[in-house]
Amino acid sequence: MTAPDDPATGSTRSRITLQVNGDATDLTVDHRATLLDVLRERLGLTGAKKGCDHGQCGACTVLVDGRRANSCLLLAVAQDGAEVITVEGLAAGGELHPLQQAFLDRDAFQCGYCTPGQLCSAVGVFAEAAAGHPSRVTDPARPSGQGPVELTPAEIRERMSGNLCRCGAYPHIVAAVEDVTR
Ligand code: FES
Ligand code: FES
Repeated sequence: MTAPDDPATGSTRSRITLQVNGDATDLTVDHRATLLDVLRERLGLTGAKKGCDHGQCGACTVLVDGRRANSCLLLAVAQDGAEVITVEGLAAGGELHPLQQAFLDRDAFQCGYCTPGQLCSAVGVFAEAAAGHPSRVTDPARPSGQGPVELTPAEIRERMSGNLCRCGAYPHIVAAVEDVTR
């Protein structure tokens, strides 16, 4: 990150670089701008949704350096150099991500407003479970980080509990996520 662009006047903007869906992007951001607003309003990536803007619904979930995050809670200026994956970056080579296909196959959405966040969150869940990170429902006797955690329906429900769906598509979302773990 460069210094504020005009320190003599107490500027509140800085130049940063983000790797967004594989592309390096240089931009000057207001220090108050959230990553969500920068993605949507500056970069035109409107997949991540603003549901609550308070870290409560998960509609804005993206992957930052491989970990899922509520982008409404992150200041863009603090993400300088980060690798960001949004729902627009999940498909590759003209093929849907297997999870996107599973959502279609399982009819795991209705209005679709929560779906980008659900998808990015679940991709994060796969990485967390593969790395052996426990959740609240993981057997406490199991050593943390000792091999992958099996993503049972209970694990999926717990790990996806930060992503709300006002349409109530939860059973189909769990089924879709479970399909990809098999
Ligand atoms: S918009 Fe970010 S958690 Fe709701
Ligand atoms: S599909 Fe409508 S909010 Fe989840």
